[in-house]
Amino acid sequence: MTKVLFVVSECAPLVKTGGLADVAGALPAALAQYDVNVRVLLPGYRTVMAQVQKSKPVATYNNLFGNSADVIACQIAGVDFLILDAPHLYDRDGSIYGDATGADWLDNPERFAALCKVGAGIAAGDLPDWQPDIVHGHDWHAGLTPEYLRSAGLETPFVFTIHNIAFHGNASAQKLADLSLDADRFTSDHFEFWGQISALKAGLMGATKINTVSQTYADELMTPEFGLGMDGILQARQSDMSGIVNGIDLDAWNPQTDPNITKFKSPAGKSKNKTALQKTFGLGKADGPLCVLVSRLTEQKGIDLLLDALPALLDNGGQLALLGSGDPALEVALLKAAAKHQNLSVKIGYNEKLSHQMMAGGDAILVPSRFEPCGLTQLYGLRYGTVPLVALTGGLADTVINASPAAMARKVATGIQFFPINAHAFANAFNRLLTLYSDKDVWRSIQRNAMKQPVGWEAAAQTYKDLYESVL
Ligand code: ADP
Ligand code: GLC
Repeated sequence: MTKVLFVVSECAPLVKTGGLADVAGALPAALAQYDVNVRVLLPGYRTVMAQVQKSKPVATYNNLFGNSADVIACQIAGVDFLILDAPHLYDRDGSIYGDATGADWLDNPERFAALCKVGAGIAAGDLPDWQPDIVHGHDWHAGLTPEYLRSAGLETPFVFTIHNIAFHGNASAQKLADLSLDADRFTSDHFEFWGQISALKAGLMGATKINTVSQTYADELMTPEFGLGMDGILQARQSDMSGIVNGIDLDAWNPQTDPNITKFKSPAGKSKNKTALQKTFGLGKADGPLCVLVSRLTEQKGIDLLLDALPALLDNGGQLALLGSGDPALEVALLKAAAKHQNLSVKIGYNEKLSHQMMAGGDAILVPSRFEPCGLTQLYGLRYGTVPLVALTGGLADTVINASPAAMARKVATGIQFFPINAHAFANAFNRLLTLYSDKDVWRSIQRNAMKQPVGWEAAAQTYKDLYESVL
């Protein structure tokens, strides 16, 4: 059995702001099938501690960046958690990354360095009964782990997964001592990045192997446009880099058993859910497709492109039900547009149950991202016969088969892709959607193909297992 410690900043079902949490929560169970035993080291944020029963700590640190901290072991929803209970770092109002105004916590460098330091401690044998063979870090929050492994004299292999390269976790060079980092290694071939400490760079330079969450994003990351300053490093490490497409939890996302919806087996069974969804969103009946979109509302997700392309859908009988939250300017713009169009309804907020109902009731799911390392909502869409209409990038390129004439002839199309990623091409994609939807047989065949496409963790888990074996 291979023992792997995940070091990660969010994990479903305890705490989630995006797909990272879904992945960290579902991958351990999938890996268990391959004789890999995962424990997940997670910060004990206030919301996490509220769900954890206090028990005797399995490890204690007298001074973890300013105060004492404990590690508490527990099993929740089948995941073996190691919760880092450090109130001085994690017990506070606001979100897990920042205060109520949306500004990052000033001590984020310490908050996540602490997680990495304890990760290295666990690798060194700090727990009485369990010591990992491999540490697997996710995104910049885990990036300093190899530095602490190194300073503890450990050679434990470190696998680093990039879920989103847009966040670098930079800190001022003045924090070198505060973060217990080796000042001699503050150089461009370790973790110095334009005069700052970069946790992301530390992870990329220190990792035994690097992967990201789709092959296309792995290739894109080698270019300046997508690599965001890390492209040179990734090119240098190309031989250690791979892409592994995420899966989704097939039990949580199963149209035949989903308790949130009117259950269905085939596309025809979606109609009751569609009627219910139109009611929930205050939309009337329409001749065209009901599109849905569930997302963080940020520039990454192409919401501004959506606003420009929307008339092509709404003025031609289509509808859109949108659920999301994020950038206040985008929220306002969406609400304004909804006030003007009877075929557009917007709900601002985060609502897991409603997101299931949207997958069940929608005809098509929109994912117009400017970049998308993997993307999960198009995978939920496939599983629920909700045809993905997506930008051709990253994981969206790898998981959707565009309804081109060739794919239609071979009866393998599962969705619609558009490129270049701009409002004009997006509007054209809406036109293609309306045409495909208007032919019932054609539409049904795309839905059926979508529902047949494997979207579980099986393939990814096997590939991660191989990756782990390659570093041992
Ligand atoms: P990212 O991690 O970049 O936000 P993903 O597509 O990988 O994008 O994952 C987003 C996850 O968050 C999905 O599980 C999606 O359903 C969920 N999600 C995003 N916004 C909302 C929302 N407003 N309500 C419910 N679920 C949401
Ligand atoms: C990131 C990416 C998203 C991916 C998720 C899980 O948040 O933006 O594309 O699906 O991580 O890997």
